[in-house]
Amino acid sequence: MNPTSQGASLAPVREPFTLTIFGATGDLTHRKLIPALYALFRGGWLPEQFAVIGFARRDYTDESFRAWLRETLPRFSRIPVETASLEAFLGHVGYFKADIETDAAAFADYRARLKQGKFPANRLFYLSIKPELFAGAVERLKSSGLIRRPSEKAWTRVVIEKPFGRDLASARALNERCLEHLSENQIYRIDHYLGKETAQNILSFRFANILFEPVFNRQFVDHVQITAAETVGMESGRGAYYDAAGALRDMVQNHLLQLLCLVAMEPPSKLDAEAIRNEKVKALRSIEMPTPGCIDSVAIRAQYTAGTVAGRPVPGYREEERIAPDSRTPTYVALRLQLDNWRWAGVPFYLRTGKRLAARATEIAVKFKVPPLQLFETVECQGDVCEFVNARPNRLIFRIQPREGISLRFCAKRPGMQYRVEDVEMDFSYSAAWSGAVPEAYERLLLDVIRGDSTLFTRSDEVDAAWTIMDPILRAWEGGAGGGPLYQYEAGSWGPIEAESLFHNSEVYWHTPGMSGSNVVSVGGPASTESRA
Ligand code: BG6
Repeated sequence: MNPTSQGASLAPVREPFTLTIFGATGDLTHRKLIPALYALFRGGWLPEQFAVIGFARRDYTDESFRAWLRETLPRFSRIPVETASLEAFLGHVGYFKADIETDAAAFADYRARLKQGKFPANRLFYLSIKPELFAGAVERLKSSGLIRRPSEKAWTRVVIEKPFGRDLASARALNERCLEHLSENQIYRIDHYLGKETAQNILSFRFANILFEPVFNRQFVDHVQITAAETVGMESGRGAYYDAAGALRDMVQNHLLQLLCLVAMEPPSKLDAEAIRNEKVKALRSIEMPTPGCIDSVAIRAQYTAGTVAGRPVPGYREEERIAPDSRTPTYVALRLQLDNWRWAGVPFYLRTGKRLAARATEIAVKFKVPPLQLFETVECQGDVCEFVNARPNRLIFRIQPREGISLRFCAKRPGMQYRVEDVEMDFSYSAAWSGAVPEAYERLLLDVIRGDSTLFTRSDEVDAAWTIMDPILRAWEGGAGGGPLYQYEAGSWGPIEAESLFHNSEVYWHTPGMSGSNVVSVGGPASTESRA
C-alpha cells in the first residue's frame, strides 16, 4: 500500500522473477497460490518473463506437476479457467523433486538447475512447509548461495507462512535465525487476513472519511467485538497440525489481533509500510498484559462436542481424525482485551473465534454508547413478551466475510401517531456497489511481494508484540497444572455460554454475525443480532 500501489499508478510488474514454492504439493499451492497466480496472469499483472517452480518430495516431473494443476485449477480458481490462457500460464510452471529434510545436496542441486535453465535472477522463495523447517530452509538457502544481499541488483525475498513461532520464545528464536541471513525487508511474514479487501478497507473507512474517525474513541465507543466464526472442523487432514496449535495460535495471535490493530490504531503519518506498521505495533503494545493469576477472567477456551452444522451431523473434536482422544486443545477462544492508551482506555475489545460454530462469518462490531439523555423508547420482544426499553445505541458492523460490507444501525421514528423509535440499518455491500468479484487475499499478497511492498505483511516487532500478549495465556493454559477450565460447546452453536462471563456489564451480549445488511427492519429484526451464546 505504498504510494505507488494506489489507484491508477499501480502498474503491472515488469521485472522478471522466479518463484519457488517449497512444499508445493501441499494444499495451499493448489487451493490458493496457483489460482492467485493464474488470476494475476490473466489480469495482466505479471511480467512476460517469470517462472513458478514447485519444490517438494513427491515424485512429479515438470509435466506431471502441470497435469495435476491443470486438473485442480478449475476447482479452485476464482475466475473461469480458459484453455488457451491456462496452457500459456502452465508454460511458466515447472517442478523440482527433492526432500529438504533429508537431502543435504538439494539446495545446491536446485541452484544448479536455476543456473542451467537461465531462470530470471530475481528470486522469490515461498516457504509453505512445516514450521519447524522454516529456519533450516532459510539457513540452507543462504549456505547454498541462493540468497542475494539486499545491495545486489537482483533481489531475493522469502515469504514465510504462518504460524510464525508457537510462543514468544520460539517466535523470537525464529526471527533471530531468519535475520542472520536475510534483512527485515527481504522477509514477508504472511497473514492472509491482511490481504482481504474488507480488512484493507478498514483503514480507508476510518481515515478517508471525516465522519467516523472522530467517534472512534473512548468517549463514544462502549466496546468492540471481533468475531471469526467458522463452520469447518478438522477436514482435509488438518487434525495433526491443529491439535498442536489450537484456536489461540491458529487464529487469535495473528488474524484477530491484526483486525484489532486496524480498528484501534492511530492514523499513520503516510501510507507506507513502515508508517502503517509502526502504528500497528503501538496499538499492540498498548494492550494490557493479561495477569497470570487472572487469566480466567479475561480468556475463555472450549472444545466442540458432536452436533449438527448446516443440517449435517458432525463428530465432536476428540472424535475427529488425528486428534488425541483426551486432547485439551481449544477449538474456541474468547478474550477481553483492554488497550491502555488515550483513545481506548476503558473500552473492552472482545475477540472470539471457533471451529464448528453456527455460521461462517468474520465481523467487527463497534458498539457505541447511549446518548447522554434518553428521550425515546422502543419496544423489545423476547418471544411473546414485549416491553418498552430505551432506544438502542448505534452500532457499526464491518462484514469482513461473507456478504462483504459495512452496516450502521441507528434509530428512526416509526411512522404513526405514537412517538416510537426503532432500529434501522444503513447498509453498504460490495456486491451492490461494485460489480465483479472481490480479489482473493493471496492475489493481493503475492502481487505485493513481487512488487516489494511489505505493508500487508507482519514485521518482526509486530509478531513479537502479538506473542507477548498471548504468552501469559498460553502459559496459564498449558503450564504444568493444565490451566483453568476447558469448556465445551455443541457443534453448530455459537460457543460456550461461559464466554458471557467476560462481559463488563449485563447490557452486553455477543453480536451474532451474519445478520446485518439483510434489510429486515422490524422490532426485534436486525437489532436482535445480539444474542446469548
Ligand atoms: C487459517 C487457519 O490461517 O485461517 C485456519 O489456519 C482457518 O484454521 C483459516 O480456517 C480461516 O481463513 P478464512 O480466510 O477462511 O477466514
